[in-house]
Amino acid sequence: MSSGDDVGNSEGSGQTPTIGYPPIAALRRDFIWGVSTSSFQIEGATREDGRGPSVWDTYGQKGLIANHDTGDVACDHYHRYLEDIGLMRRLGNQAYRFSVAWPRVLPGGRGKVNEPGLAFYDRLIDALLAAGIEPWLCLYHWDLPQALDDLGGWTTRDCVGWFANYAALVAERYGDRVKRFATFNEPSIFTLFGLGFGYGKRATSSSDVLYRAIHNINLAHGAAVEIVRARVTGCSVGAIHNFQPCLPSTPADGQAAERCDTCWNKAFPDPQCLGTYPKSMQAAIEPHMQTNDLASICRPVDWFGLNHYSPVFVKADASSVVGFGFGEKPAEISLTPNGWPIMPDSFRDTLLRVAKRYALPLYVLENGMGGYDQPDETGMVSDNDRIAYLRGYIGAMNAAASAGADIRGYFAWSLLDNFEWDSGYSVRFGLTYIDYPTQRRIPKASFEWYRGLIKAARSR
Ligand code: FCB
Repeated sequence: MSSGDDVGNSEGSGQTPTIGYPPIAALRRDFIWGVSTSSFQIEGATREDGRGPSVWDTYGQKGLIANHDTGDVACDHYHRYLEDIGLMRRLGNQAYRFSVAWPRVLPGGRGKVNEPGLAFYDRLIDALLAAGIEPWLCLYHWDLPQALDDLGGWTTRDCVGWFANYAALVAERYGDRVKRFATFNEPSIFTLFGLGFGYGKRATSSSDVLYRAIHNINLAHGAAVEIVRARVTGCSVGAIHNFQPCLPSTPADGQAAERCDTCWNKAFPDPQCLGTYPKSMQAAIEPHMQTNDLASICRPVDWFGLNHYSPVFVKADASSVVGFGFGEKPAEISLTPNGWPIMPDSFRDTLLRVAKRYALPLYVLENGMGGYDQPDETGMVSDNDRIAYLRGYIGAMNAAASAGADIRGYFAWSLLDNFEWDSGYSVRFGLTYIDYPTQRRIPKASFEWYRGLIKAARSR
């Protein structure tokens, strides 16, 4: 492939992307190209084979999701996982990051193990391996068992033991076949959006509860790293963080932006990778700190998982327990259809910042674009805006690699359109379009584009 050329890839299922590939010459020869998903967003079958309810089932039942959507069916991946692995075979991705649904394997979060739930991931993992795709298993992508939330969830220190036992079950069951383990996906996002913002539907009224949860989750991460390492020979362990520039919305919002940077970007990776909380957070954490906690949190990890979509524009907000909220975005910045700034240079800067701060090999484990795609009259989904986004961001990653960041893989979010949390099914991030009424999978133009890129990159 000639890097940076503008020649489209004409192979594929009839879709002909006309947008060329970005430069990738600075990426390693053994670079891993992947796709990511998560359990609640795709599996469906929420009441099947003994699965227990998660907090996201509850939010759906309470009507807290856009359009009153629920995860009950989602992409029906629980039944269609072989078809989805077929899509991956076609895409040519070397690795697939998925998450295990805690309430599927431990319906009450602890105690009685659900064998049919465990067996589902056996089937999934075996089929991935048979297809030559490396499974990357994330222990927690936000679907906390409701039974544990009823007991205080992440706000009680008991959760460290609950999570450790769950991690042990998963590591022992799958560790013969799975070697890549992530503890948590985006702990800052589920704590900030779950507990942090005063205006959120699920927010707490106390910042103390938020800081307690942050510390407990960090402890649970450290415990899980130890457990996976002790039980899985040849494992490679890390955590996945959403790290992005927090920019002041107006010149008066500088302090709020710094507070956001602390809570969003550093509250988890700093103690986990550097063994210390950011200075401005230490007093708030102090009441929850016990002897040796920092040593238990800061267990050696093998890599840093980075999710990045766009910077955030921050404003001061005294009504929020964290003291900040989201402000106006400057008018001159282009936005994705779902309103997120498109700023690939800031991805390059983030990669360099994270590489320097934590000095770990980096895997980009999520990046992608949210839109409102629809098939055209011929049945094709021509998501050229997504291709342009991916081209810009992958090019920016190449620029970071050429400036010295040790980047080892890139996983697109996501293989399929899926349940996008509070937005339900209204926003689509997939390389594959899901026609929800029929569950038909339609690879979008971006699927063919990414497929061509992977092929070209791997044949370098
Ligand atoms: C990330 C989440 C992922 C998905 C993308 C769009 O924050 O980890 O589940 O919702 O955003």
